[in-house]
Amino acid sequence: MDIDKIIEERRSWLGWKNIAPLREALKKLPRIDDVEVLLDDTVTIRSDSVTSAQREQIETAARMMIPWRKGPFDLFGIFIDSEWRSFKKYNLLRPYMDLEGKRVADVGCNNGYYMFRMLEFRPHSIMGVDPSPLFRTQFDLINLYVKSRLLRYEMLGIEHMRGFADMFDTVFCLGVLYHRSDPIAALKSLKQCLKRGGELFLDTFMIDGEEPVCLVPESTYSKISNVHFVPTISALENWCKKAGFEGFEVLEIVKTEKEEQRKTEWIAGESLDAFLDPHNSALTVEGYPAPKRVYIKTYRK
Ligand SMILES: C[S@@+](CC[C@H](N)C(=O)[O-])C[C@H]1O[C@@H](n2cnc3c(N)ncnc32)[C@H](O)[C@@H]1O
Repeated sequence: MDIDKIIEERRSWLGWKNIAPLREALKKLPRIDDVEVLLDDTVTIRSDSVTSAQREQIETAARMMIPWRKGPFDLFGIFIDSEWRSFKKYNLLRPYMDLEGKRVADVGCNNGYYMFRMLEFRPHSIMGVDPSPLFRTQFDLINLYVKSRLLRYEMLGIEHMRGFADMFDTVFCLGVLYHRSDPIAALKSLKQCLKRGGELFLDTFMIDGEEPVCLVPESTYSKISNVHFVPTISALENWCKKAGFEGFEVLEIVKTEKEEQRKTEWIAGESLDAFLDPHNSALTVEGYPAPKRVYIKTYRK
């Protein structure tokens, strides 16, 4: 796999008709030097020198980039109240993280919210990977002001990670596996980018049960169209073993709640409350078990 060639080809995605105007707006934004960055539940960027005209220009650009799925961010007083309160997931994983000096990858990083948060650990570097030019543009907006040189973002997918052989100490792959039609191949790709003994943090939708089986939604799951497999924990463990991982640790099991995922003015469409059965919140609108996630850590053999 010629990863540099794929990266180069995908640069043209930033010129797509729906993305080009956002890139133009981004290019014209003011450079602000005296910023203070607070890496807390809200990733906050402050400056005493921003004028109200500059703030207005930044807000217009940020609103052009709707939907904001992950966050929240506070950009010079503009509160980007994303659909997901991503600090819930981050805070849940934080006690298990040990990233100082490490080469880290976040696969399916969306706009990089977790990447910004992980800077608190002083890693060697963090590479975010996500094929979306919209989320890449949101990342570029935030990093225009955070200005971290430790962060790199590539518009690639999980399937390209094998192109970064033996590179990373720690890989995060959160909320991506159920979107893959071949989850074992996806896990193998993640394994290949890890150094031997390197660690993988992963979360996926799960179903209850002891047997190593999966729910295969007929069409949508919780109104999401591309969910292929929702495994039991033992099915997930078997996938990881088959892909060449060892030492499977279940960190947390969490039901998605409306305080974590909800409609805000920073997304256009519906959110969790429209995805659940209005008469029984234990079920999705399709009649499947409501979204519940398992968080695991496993290691490359
Ligand atoms: C449900 S979101 C999860 C985002 C974030 N990791 C989290 O857990 O909050 C799924 C993300 O995977 C990205 N994605 C889509 N196809 C992908 C692929 N082939 N490889 C990696 N990520 C992909 C989407 O753009 C989206 O940002």
